[in-house]
Formats: sequence, structure tokens, C-alpha cells
Amino acid sequence: MYDVDAIRKDFPILALKINGCPNTFLDSAASAQKPKVVIDKMNEMYLHEYSNVHRGSYLLSEEITSAFEEARNTVQKFLNAKSSSEIVFTRSATESINLVAASWGRKFLKSGDEVLISEAEHHANLVTWQVLRDEIGFKLNICRVNDDGSFDMEDFSRKLTPNTKLVAITGMSNVLGTIFPLQEIIPLAHAKGAKVLVDACQLAVHQSLDVQALDCDFLAFSGHKTYGPTGIGVLYGKYELLDAMPPYQCGGDMVDVVTYEHTTFDPPPARFEAGTPAIVEAIGLAEALKYMMSLGLDNITSHENELTAYTIAKLSSIDGLRQIGTAKGKGGVFSFVVDGIHPQDLAFILDKEGVAIRVGHHCAAPLVQRMGYSSVARASLGLYTTKEDIDILVRAINKAKTFF
Ligand code: ALA
Repeated sequence: MYDVDAIRKDFPILALKINGCPNTFLDSAASAQKPKVVIDKMNEMYLHEYSNVHRGSYLLSEEITSAFEEARNTVQKFLNAKSSSEIVFTRSATESINLVAASWGRKFLKSGDEVLISEAEHHANLVTWQVLRDEIGFKLNICRVNDDGSFDMEDFSRKLTPNTKLVAITGMSNVLGTIFPLQEIIPLAHAKGAKVLVDACQLAVHQSLDVQALDCDFLAFSGHKTYGPTGIGVLYGKYELLDAMPPYQCGGDMVDVVTYEHTTFDPPPARFEAGTPAIVEAIGLAEALKYMMSLGLDNITSHENELTAYTIAKLSSIDGLRQIGTAKGKGGVFSFVVDGIHPQDLAFILDKEGVAIRVGHHCAAPLVQRMGYSSVARASLGLYTTKEDIDILVRAINKAKTFF
């Protein structure tokens, strides 16, 4: 039994009044709120257990090193990775993607190769490849999404060629809510000899992930969207790929032997974690993932699916509101525009009613333009969102319409 009212009590910030109204937080796709267990765990670490990891020969350092490595084990479990050595802690999903580009990309991509992404990529999974393309000279191909936001499998299959060395693709669009058919995309890419990087920032929040079943080569997600802290992200990579990659950044804690002339490096994941890591953030992230797993990822998905259907129906009932991204099976991210109201004005009015939404291009400017807009409003769900939140949103949009 998924008791969303009880779950909401785990998130102290949801009880706040915003402009004298209930806190109707519908911007979880940008960053999710944190349950008290995460906040308490991080406080506890700073109050009673803090020191540096992997360096100390004293009790506090040994304890926090165990907690940090235990956090890696929790991420391994969350992703069902084969080994915790396949889990690299980064600062963000953005850094995870940049790591793959800078390390794997610089070593393995050449002029004449092709990298295939989709029209629905976040800037992190678009600009990163444009910059590397300009440096190396490979071809960056972009496969289409259909007008309803669904993945155009035909276009993907056409643009996937024997020269494609990497498919870098989102699992779920942060604008359209479309869930991409990774189970079809990944085997097709592999059949052409391409590696696959999945940007799972949105997907990881809404459904369980199994990197072994998916058979993706790399997968990135961020801590702050999965109810954990900012400043921590994850890169999953198949061990043999990580092992063949050079360091991304250099510094302490990633080296084997250092002399003035030469340095040898640690194996993964340490090779990719130069410098003091985000220790307490990694432990906080693990606490958030444990929280999600304790609720049950399938239960979270069912709750959000029910709420997604409810939200689509409710938004459809508003005259003059156009939903952007209506693909079948989409997840809880709803972009829309309302005739005659600029999205920024709408967000301003909604804020007065305690309703938080995001407006703009959502770090996916070419996608928003491809859908025909320069700016759209976006409401997004979290595991704590209720039908009442959606009712408040709808009432607030209808109220906004009376001002114009
Ligand atoms: N990428 C995040 C979003 O979609 C910040 O809002």
C-alpha cells in the first residue's frame, strides 16, 4: 500500500506555506525535495563521523571510508551493476557525461566516426558532443522525435550506421516526459558495434534500473533528482570499458606510483575520482536510494503512472492549454503553453498560489524550438506528489487565465 500522505511527512519542506498557500511543489524534474532521513544522515556524518576518506590511519577516517564505500555498494544495488568497481562518483550527471566524452571519447573516437544522439537531449548530452566533435572531427548525427514527442525508431535505425561508435541517449526526456525504448535501442546499437551511454537523470527517479538487463555501456544520473543532495552524480560503466579509459582529472587518490618522471594510475573507479570526493553527499545519495528502494521502485512507478494519467486528463480539460509531449507511456513531466499567457507570467501567478513550476527551455533549447516554442511551462511529479497538488495546479492555471 503506497500511502502518499504518510510519505509526504518524510519531506519536511512540503509542510511549508508558500505565499500563505500550501507548498505545491511541481518542479521535481529540476531538483527533488529531500526526505528527512537524508538530511539527518548528512547532519550525523558532519556532527559525529566526518573526516577524509581513503587516507587516514585513525578511527574516524576508517569509519567514513567504510560508509563511503558502502554508499558505492548501495548505488551498485540500485542499478544492479555487476560490481561496485563499475560505480564512479562524480559531481553530477553532467560531469559523468563529460567524463565519458573527455576520457573514452578522446581515446576511442576519430575523424570519420559518428556519434548518434536524439533531438530530445539535455544540453549536457548535446553540447558536450558538439565540443568534442569540433575537436576530433567526428560526425554528430541527431535522430528525430515525432511531433507527439515519441521516439522515431525508423529515423534512429536509418541514422545508426556501421560508423556509429557511440549512441548517447536519454532514457526519459526532461521536457516531453517520453520514455525512450532503451530495450530496443541498445541491442540495435550494439548490433552495429556502437557503445551506448544512457542519460538516466529523469528515468532513475521514476522507475527501477537494471544496467545488466539493459546492457548499456555507460549510464549517468544525478543525486539531487533522486531525492539526494546536490554535488554528487554517478557514472556507471562496464568495467572493461572503464579499465581501458585514461584518467579524466588528475590529483590525489587516483594514483598508484608517482615519481617526478612518471605516474601510474589506480584501477577504476579510483582512477576517475581525483581529489577529495563529495564524501557526505555520496553517503546522502545512498540514503536517498535506500529510501526509494524501501518504498519500492515499482510502487513509485505505479503511483506516478496513476498520477500521470490524472494530470493529462486534468490538463486536457483546460481550454487553450496545449500539452507538449503526449507520447504513449510517458512519465510525469508535463510541458505546456496556455494561449495568451507567456509562460513566465503564468509561473509568476502560480507562485502567488504556492505552485512551483519551471519555465523556459529546460536546458534543451533546440528541442523546445523543434516543438515550436521558445519557452514552455513545465510541471513535474515526484514520489510525494498528490492528486490534490494537480487540482491546485489546475485551479491556479484557470485563475491565471482570468487575468488575461
Ligand atoms: N535538467 C534539469 C531540468 O530539467 C535542471 O529542470
